[in-house]
Amino acid sequence: MKPVLLKEGIYWVGAVDWDLRYFHGPIYTTHRGTTYNSYLIADDHLTLVDAVYAPFAGELIGRIKAVADPSRIENVIVNHIETDHAGALPEIMKLAPGAKIYCSARARDGLQKHFPGAGWDYRVVKTGMELSTGRRTLTFVEAPMLHWPDSMFTYIPQEALLLPNDAFGQHLASSSRFDDEVDGHVLMEEAAKYYANILYPVSRLVLKKLAELEGMNIPVEMIAPSHGIIWRSRSSRIVEAYRRWAAGEWERKSLVVYETMWGSTMLMARAIAEGLSDQGVATKLYRISAGDYSDIIKELLEARLLVVGSSTIHRHFIASLAPFLDSLACLQPVNRIGAVFGSYGWSKGAAQAVTERLKQAGIETVPESLEVLWIPDQDDRQRCYQWGGSLAGLL
Ligand SMILES: Cc1cc2nc3c(=O)[nH]c(=O)nc-3n(C[C@H](O)[C@H](O)[C@H](O)COP(=O)(O)O)c2cc1C
Ligand SMILES: [Fe+2]
Ligand SMILES: [Fe+2]
Repeated sequence: MKPVLLKEGIYWVGAVDWDLRYFHGPIYTTHRGTTYNSYLIADDHLTLVDAVYAPFAGELIGRIKAVADPSRIENVIVNHIETDHAGALPEIMKLAPGAKIYCSARARDGLQKHFPGAGWDYRVVKTGMELSTGRRTLTFVEAPMLHWPDSMFTYIPQEALLLPNDAFGQHLASSSRFDDEVDGHVLMEEAAKYYANILYPVSRLVLKKLAELEGMNIPVEMIAPSHGIIWRSRSSRIVEAYRRWAAGEWERKSLVVYETMWGSTMLMARAIAEGLSDQGVATKLYRISAGDYSDIIKELLEARLLVVGSSTIHRHFIASLAPFLDSLACLQPVNRIGAVFGSYGWSKGAAQAVTERLKQAGIETVPESLEVLWIPDQDDRQRCYQWGGSLAGLL
């Protein structure tokens, strides 16, 4: 793929990773791969904004060479030090050893630990500071914890172009680079999965940053994140989605997520889901071992109600639910409510343990969980159906 022109003299020079299926270790499945986006500003002073994951350094350098001699790079902007972006930095700095690295103070500290002894020429920047590349001025906006302490955004007022690194990204490999060239549904689905699995816990900061950007009165026409597709025609769509997700807005939707050993809790789950959907609540049913919890967490961006079921095993819930429940505790979904159910044989224990985990995730549960002894009979299933229907009243 050739470098792709965003604006006159500004090129995408990143890399497409078609093969990636897991991100951040095993916790985030990337069914559609990803991209590492890097941008070259071919102005009087050649400037690179962010690099790529180290295995893709060769691709990055090849694309830079198609525009300009990399040894001419004078400035490297590091908006974020995470390995998927700064990994290829040493290769760039070998080619352009005199380049100055512009980054936040936390980024400089982090880079010194990631690349000890590199001896690079760091220029620490703060919100509002500017760097002229000739015809353009780069303006820096610190964005601590969006999503690391070092994170910052770079803004180019002459082009109304925002380069926010990981914010507004999606793990989506494509031969297209722009939002108007890809399926909008797929794009928003991947953007939502990205928000839910990466930015959910910092939703309050997202709202503050959106307000701050609005207050700065800077027109933003194009948003070029560090992963996936560039928002060229519909940048307001992703900004509005971030506002909705961060505010914890919801639709009349619910998720029923469960695990079972011999099928009793599954019979309960199906009856509960039917009770909910017969009351007009759009409901999705997931057996946790049948799929992927990072996809389920994405669904929680729209669903208000999370109903979790497990039978009791050794006074506890079935362990395959643990990664999902632990992830919820990490991600702290905004403004969600829960309900808990399951089958048991003698002592019980699963429902209480699940309730505690949901509480750790900031999800308040309805006081009455629903537990059924052994295999649910016709009456039990009717009870499940009605319990599901009564939960609909919460929405
Ligand atoms: C290995 C094992 C351990 C169990 N431990 C408990 C327990 O500690 N307390 C309890 O009430 N039931 C316990 N049970 C009983 C199950 O909760 C009961 O069989 C339930 O109906 C299974 O529902 P399921 O088919 O949805 O898995 C245990 C069952 C198994 C197979
Ligand atoms: Fe990151
Ligand atoms: Fe990233």
